[in-house]
Amino acid sequence: MDVIIRKDVKSAVDLAARIMADALRKRPDMTLGLATGRTMEALYAELVKMHREEGLDFSLAKSFNLDEYVGLAPDNVNSYRYYMNHHLFDHVNIDKRNTHLPNGLAKCEAGECERYEQEMRLAGGIDLQLVGIGRTGHIGFNEPLSPLTSRTRSVALTQGTIEQNSPLFTYPDVMPRRAFTMGVGTVLDARSVLLLATGAEKADIIAKAIEGPVTSMISASALQMHQNCTVILDEEAAAKLQLRDFCDWTFANDPKWDAFR
Ligand code: F6R
Repeated sequence: MDVIIRKDVKSAVDLAARIMADALRKRPDMTLGLATGRTMEALYAELVKMHREEGLDFSLAKSFNLDEYVGLAPDNVNSYRYYMNHHLFDHVNIDKRNTHLPNGLAKCEAGECERYEQEMRLAGGIDLQLVGIGRTGHIGFNEPLSPLTSRTRSVALTQGTIEQNSPLFTYPDVMPRRAFTMGVGTVLDARSVLLLATGAEKADIIAKAIEGPVTSMISASALQMHQNCTVILDEEAAAKLQLRDFCDWTFANDPKWDAFR
């Protein structure tokens, strides 16, 4: 795991955007795994800017999102499909037919999860999976006790996640209590993973996920087992890490990061 700490949110977001753009330029037909949430809004704004100002090309790219709320239609303003259209897809030249999210209205939840996994397989798997981290340590909606081998499935959301996300709803009470999510095992299958976390409220859970034991109580800790995982933090989110000097040293000295310093 490479942990890169930047001085503020803007530099953390800029670096994450540059890493994604670099991957897309090297392989224009890549399959992106995408996340939603407050943290990613600035990242998508940066990618949109790169598309407008530098011609970053999404025309051949495919995407699969981590999750979607059970019961929300794609045109519901609180759905993750709506979020993705609003923050990214409507503003870049991606072909929307190549963008995928679980169908929140699927009649058969198990069937929808199997279909989603199969679509990912048919697309050749995820090349670069973007993830955030929730207060409960979730990636996607893999709440505590999610098996580390789990696949796409529908899950009940914890009270912590409901408190975290309900303020984003037009009416907090209407936030669904269940969601479809890629599993921890699905995320670990991606060829590379990029975790972006910013802000002081993430400091405790980031320290546990990165430096603590691998445990299904904190699904983000499973990323310690991934061979190609990069974590980008701002100073505030990194504040409780014990190994931060080593993280800085690695970023400054590993030739892999020459182009990004
Ligand atoms: C969203 C997702 C979640 C969020 C996490 C952090 O698609 O998968 O795991 O990344 O809840 O959300 P924010 O960025 O709002 O703190």
